[in-house]
Amino acid sequence: MNHMKEIVTYFLLFLLQTSSSTDTIRPNQSLKDGDILVSSGKAFVLGFFSPGKSSNRYVGIWYNKVVEQTVVWVANRDNPINGTSGVLAIDPAGNLVLSDGSHNLSVWSTNLTSMIMKKSSSAQLMDSGNFVLFQDQSKSVITWQSFDYPTNTMLPNMKAGWQKRTGLNIFTSWKSHDDPGTGEYMFKLELICTPQFFLFKGTKKIWRSGPWNGRAWSGVPDLVSSGVPDLVSNFIFKFSYVENDDEVTITYSRLVVNESGTLDLIRLVVNESGTLDWFTWQESERGWARFWSAPTDRCDSYAHCGASGNCNLYNLSEFECSCLQGFEPKIERQWYLRDASRGCKRKQGENICGNGDRFNKVTNVKIPDTSIARVNKSLELRECHDLCLKNCSCTAFASANISGGENGCLTWHGDLVDIRQFSNKGQDLYLRVPDVELAKYTRNSRGFHGKRLATIVIVSILAMLLILLLSCWLLKKKRKGTGQRKSRYCFSTGLTSYGSGGEERDGSGTSAEVSIFDLSTIVSATEDFSLANKLGEGGFGAVYKGRLPNGQEIAVKRLSKISGQGGEEFKNEITSIARLQHRNLVRLLGCCIQQDEKMLVYEYLPNKSLDNFIFDEERRSHIDWSKLFEIILGIARGMIYLHEDSRLKIIHRDLKASNILLDTSMNPKISDFGLARIFGVDQIEANTNRVVGTYGYMSPEYAMEGLFSIKSDVYSFGVLLLEIICGRKNSSFFQDNTVNLVGYVWDLWREDRALDIVDSSLNNSYKEANQVLRCIHVGLLCVQEYAPHRPTMSEVIFMLCNETTLPYPKQPAFVFKKASNTPYSSSAGVENRSVNDMSITVVEAR
Ligand SMILES: *[C@@H]1O[C@H](CO)[C@@H](O)[C@H](O)[C@H]1NC(C)=O
Ligand SMILES: *[C@@H]1O[C@H](CO)[C@@H](O)[C@H](O)[C@H]1NC(C)=O
Ligand SMILES: *[C@@H]1O[C@H](CO)[C@@H](O)[C@H](O)[C@H]1NC(C)=O
Ligand SMILES: *[C@@H]1O[C@H](CO)[C@@H](O)[C@H](O)[C@H]1NC(C)=O
Ligand SMILES: *[C@@H]1O[C@H](CO)[C@@H](O)[C@H](O)[C@H]1NC(C)=O
Ligand SMILES: *[C@@H]1O[C@H](CO)[C@@H](O)[C@H](O)[C@H]1NC(C)=O
Ligand SMILES: *[C@@H]1O[C@H](CO)[C@@H](O)[C@H](O)[C@H]1NC(C)=O
Ligand SMILES: *[C@@H]1O[C@H](CO)[C@@H](O)[C@H](O)[C@H]1NC(C)=O
Ligand SMILES: *[C@@H]1O[C@H](CO)[C@@H](O)[C@H](O)[C@H]1NC(C)=O
Ligand SMILES: *[C@@H]1O[C@H](CO)[C@@H](O)[C@H](O)[C@H]1NC(C)=O
Repeated sequence: MNHMKEIVTYFLLFLLQTSSSTDTIRPNQSLKDGDILVSSGKAFVLGFFSPGKSSNRYVGIWYNKVVEQTVVWVANRDNPINGTSGVLAIDPAGNLVLSDGSHNLSVWSTNLTSMIMKKSSSAQLMDSGNFVLFQDQSKSVITWQSFDYPTNTMLPNMKAGWQKRTGLNIFTSWKSHDDPGTGEYMFKLELICTPQFFLFKGTKKIWRSGPWNGRAWSGVPDLVSSGVPDLVSNFIFKFSYVENDDEVTITYSRLVVNESGTLDLIRLVVNESGTLDWFTWQESERGWARFWSAPTDRCDSYAHCGASGNCNLYNLSEFECSCLQGFEPKIERQWYLRDASRGCKRKQGENICGNGDRFNKVTNVKIPDTSIARVNKSLELRECHDLCLKNCSCTAFASANISGGENGCLTWHGDLVDIRQFSNKGQDLYLRVPDVELAKYTRNSRGFHGKRLATIVIVSILAMLLILLLSCWLLKKKRKGTGQRKSRYCFSTGLTSYGSGGEERDGSGTSAEVSIFDLSTIVSATEDFSLANKLGEGGFGAVYKGRLPNGQEIAVKRLSKISGQGGEEFKNEITSIARLQHRNLVRLLGCCIQQDEKMLVYEYLPNKSLDNFIFDEERRSHIDWSKLFEIILGIARGMIYLHEDSRLKIIHRDLKASNILLDTSMNPKISDFGLARIFGVDQIEANTNRVVGTYGYMSPEYAMEGLFSIKSDVYSFGVLLLEIICGRKNSSFFQDNTVNLVGYVWDLWREDRALDIVDSSLNNSYKEANQVLRCIHVGLLCVQEYAPHRPTMSEVIFMLCNETTLPYPKQPAFVFKKASNTPYSSSAGVENRSVNDMSITVVEAR
């Protein structure tokens, strides 16, 4: 009986306790230091906390499941409480008030006047991270919400911008990691002319989004407001923009494809180091991964090239700034010292407003700051042209809305500031060019310029001829056999000659046999896709092991249902991909297309993928350095085949350790190649809104701008190479302020301590320290920020296997540190070093 009583009491106590840590504060209840509110879905927690090393107490909201406390909102950010006497409660007037109990002092309040609700109001922490004060018990009227008073974090479904009801909301960084007080960086909307978002440092603009052009922000062409996301890609959120009389706001919402390694928490932060960062939570890495950031490159920083300057990182000549047509550097000396901040001025005697002024189209740009522009949304482009031509103060015009044709009219009256060039997206700007300049240009093209042009043309033709001859010669060599070819690449490891793949078999017409499997065969082979047979889940679908009736083991990839192609097109694509055969590629045996199902059938490799070996200390210890080196070379050879030797010129786009399979004798085989093609994205350098790929392996131009080329594969290869050597994942790396492995290696490299990163399990076997160093060096060359600086895959192999002098690598991409927020400052110092000092000579071992 007593026991029964005890149990009942406990049960009641339990009920009381759980109800006391609910999500709501009611009148006559208070939240003391040590108590917490937990939102109903357990996503967020509200309570008292002390940031970093500080002992001050603040009321804040943070993620419930993220172990490293990540605060998304702070109430009393500028008025900390000393000691644990703080109390959060609803006062008799219905306001939320935080008071310091020891001094009986209010440190923060919602400050609402003329409340009608009083006793019945309540404050609830929602599962979105929003802390809401309701007027009455039925929770129908919201009187205050934390989403309208943000600190440094923009959460999904939160609005940023301007609302009639609450005004502008401004995101400000913390003062430092230990102090959530209002810091100096600010992210806010400016409503002059057309709305634009800015990042400020104090009162100085440091980054500009550009105006909304109906499709995206002019300066962030990748953040399109698209409809339904594509399951194939790792598209993680939906982004939207609203502009009407009541509000001008942006929001984003989470849309998560949670295959292995994907994410379900996401936050946009004004970072105290001066950047705007978008993070997602990566469950597999147990850490935050930054997938977008601004400003990232030189052209991103506001007015980097001054007035009337254009910033172009895609120009292969060295300096990114150039003056617009009809302009010249204001201060020539500074310009040659690479300081364009003073901008450009009109050329002498070339004032606009002559009779023959014309407008030259500058394509693919981020249009200039519209703070000094005028907008008329009802004009067509033609009318816009006439309007601008008629007005002498008008220096340029552009279309205000490019979704569904060009309409709306933006005209600039004054300096054109903060223009940047994109390679193949962005908008057109129509620049007013005076007749004098136009005349000069035509004359000049026959004069001095003409001569130079002719020289360039002749030189290029000669070079092309030379290349043609050379390739003919090489082709002949190759036809004759592979002996010569081998010496061009590696002597050391080629058990089978490099490049003896599909091309030759192709020529004899024996291959390209694609078996079309019957769905019933596949179903019985995989025991109806049983869980026991599931090998894993990749970017494009799940993979199952199967056994055909004849005993052959196969791996079946069941493609996600969304694919742009019909059956016939799909079959053609498979046929061409099946032709790609190389000892370092996983062999495609056939496919199965039936009842909406599309499946690929591959040879089965029992040894699983490379990540199972290199990131596992135990298994890794069984592989010696020479084997690792062979694996590296094997992957490189497979990549060369895809990039250069196969007819299709395949860009893999998702090269990573888990996509490298190993056969029984530990030969690497690249898998998942060509899948990007099947999904209908096969241009050589195209941009794409869906970013297929894996964070940590993606090159900056791909991750940020969706640009991919063989050089983005080279970047991924570089990351993979460093991972193989170090035995660590790129993204799982938190040390010395460095965000990732690449950054860490780079730091050590610059200190001449590169060998320190080689993981200890290799210690005994790397007699060939030089070879390891050379690999690290090549890895760093592959991950350089700027794609044209990266070597091609055949250059990679050549560098790995020959004792040539290697160039000194430039600063890799994604090496951001807390200490220096200008990634370029450090690389400038490095370039001064002599190249020869740092080069390494390797004596080939075998
Ligand atoms: C709050 O407490 C006061 C005094 O203890 C009491 O008079 C009042 O009814 C309480 N209000 C509610 C809503 O419980
Ligand atoms: C906080 O309280 C401690 C002990 O009462 C005192 O020494 C310290 O000066 C106080 N700090 C502030 C900032 O008030
Ligand atoms: C604290 O302040 C409240 C309201 O201002 C007042 O009613 C109360 O008496 C004060 N308590 C102390 C201990 O001063
Ligand atoms: C409330 O008003 C006071 C005084 O006007 C001000 O100092 C404080 O910052 C305000 N608090 C909030 C949260 O707006
Ligand atoms: C842009 O133009 C399209 C098509 O004319 C229209 O649907 C859209 O509302 C316009 N957007 C803005 C922001 O004016
Ligand atoms: C995806 O998320 C849902 C709900 O959170 C969960 O039930 C499911 O297991 C997840 N799938 C994978 C593959 O992680
Ligand atoms: C700022 O960025 C750094 C990495 O660059 C990160 O470690 C830090 O947590 C970020 N700050 C916030 C508030 O997210
Ligand atoms: C590239 O740079 C050169 C030299 O600075 C400049 O003359 C040329 O106009 C630039 N090209 C573009 C497209 O900006
Ligand atoms: C836009 O242009 C139209 C047509 O010329 C004109 O009627 C209208 O007043 C202009 N609107 C503004 C805001 O200037
Ligand atoms: C030219 O445009 C400016 C700015 O819109 C305006 O102030 C000025 O009156 C215009 N001049 C003429 C001649 O229309």
